[in-house]
Amino acid sequence: MEKPLTQHIVPGRKPLNLKEYEKVGGYQSVRKALKMTPAEVQTLVKDSNLKGRGGAGFNTGLKWSFVPMGPEAATPKYLVANADEMEPGTFKDRVLLEGNPHQLIEGMIVAAYAIQASISYVFLRWAYRLAAREITQAIQEAHAAGYLGKNILGSGFDLEMHLHTGVGRYMCGEETALLNALEGKRANPRAKPPFPQVSGLFGKPTIVNNVETLCNLPHILNNGVEWFKSLSKSPDAGTKLYGVSGRVKTPGCWELPMGVTIRELLEVYAGGMQDGYLFRGLLPGGASTDFLVEEHLDVPMDFGSIQAAGSRMGTGTMIILDDQTCPVGFVHNLQHFFAQESCGFCTPCREGLPWVEKILLAIDKGEGKPEHLLTLDFHTKYLGPGNTFCALAPGAMEPLQSALKYFREDFERHIYEHHCPLSKSKAWQPS
Ligand code: NAI
Repeated sequence: MEKPLTQHIVPGRKPLNLKEYEKVGGYQSVRKALKMTPAEVQTLVKDSNLKGRGGAGFNTGLKWSFVPMGPEAATPKYLVANADEMEPGTFKDRVLLEGNPHQLIEGMIVAAYAIQASISYVFLRWAYRLAAREITQAIQEAHAAGYLGKNILGSGFDLEMHLHTGVGRYMCGEETALLNALEGKRANPRAKPPFPQVSGLFGKPTIVNNVETLCNLPHILNNGVEWFKSLSKSPDAGTKLYGVSGRVKTPGCWELPMGVTIRELLEVYAGGMQDGYLFRGLLPGGASTDFLVEEHLDVPMDFGSIQAAGSRMGTGTMIILDDQTCPVGFVHNLQHFFAQESCGFCTPCREGLPWVEKILLAIDKGEGKPEHLLTLDFHTKYLGPGNTFCALAPGAMEPLQSALKYFREDFERHIYEHHCPLSKSKAWQPS
């Protein structure tokens, strides 16, 4: 088995300051990019097949290519780093933000140059206080050294960078809700199209990229497309920050070649299940993905393979379900979160999610009725893709629909035995 490219993040370890970062090659990609044309940088990133690491996996260079360029394009253009990491079970961007803020700033300068943005924001999750301190300091250092501000390194390119801290809404992770929040408005999503690339912040062309996506850019610029592709074991290029949480021996976050299998992550890096616990299932990439089970353990963790297995890689940070955790209670907990985080803007999401939560609570308490299963099935369809304004409710339905598929017997036993099967026996047993 391979060694992780990055070991566990060491809590409390100070990130590199500017001088230390420069000593290990920091900001070289900015020098390189500024000697290229913006179109050449865009093409390089498009050819690298870097896919968005926020969860959706959209080709980054392709997304940039939708930004109007040339003298007639509206200005100013904006770049936003989406650091509003609030997907349950997801803590990969935190590792990057706290571990190496200059890497993010470097990636943002490259991205901003590629689309000719002159103003950039880091939209940070409110709870990431340590990251806020580190980024503030790193922005000041980068500014003082001439990597930010007017006429960067004498190139004629200008870029300002600001830190904006959110107020703790999951919804702000959706790019158009994020833009509304940045404008000081309520964080409701906007209709797409128009996509932000054309009409984003204050109606101007805007790119919103995830933190991990941006952190890949310096390395792609420095080492090239073929190098980046060669890091991966799958058609999705590069490395990926994977995470594992749940009752495993060594939960954590590791940078590994894209496409390691679920089994490798679980057994080698996370050390396998804790003593006394058995594996029952997993959510591959945060809470808004479908459960996978034992038969999927050898599936590679890349966008295409996980989709073919019936789920989504999402953020690539797995949550493991063990045999002593009730799937009904587990899913109820997730639906409580999603119902609370609905922005309330569209009716199916605002009304449907609390209803789902209420039914799951009743089932969990042993007060469920047989017809509840039908109502839940119905909701997984009518809150699914295409029926709501944004991806929040469809995402919420993914763990529910797959729990109803893989753990249906648990739901039925709660209903027909009027209690949680785990409340009598320690571990779940097939009836
Ligand atoms: P999406 O697929 O609609 O869009 C992804 C990106 O591609 C966006 O930037 C969008 O502007 C662009 N895009 C998509 N289609 C396009 C088109 N036809 N033309 C131009 N640009 C286009 O997905 P969305 O709603 O942005 O994100 C959903 C994902 O976010 C989910 O997969 C979920 O896993 C993830 N997520 C991550 C969270 C986190 O904390 N990291 C929190 C919540 C969800």
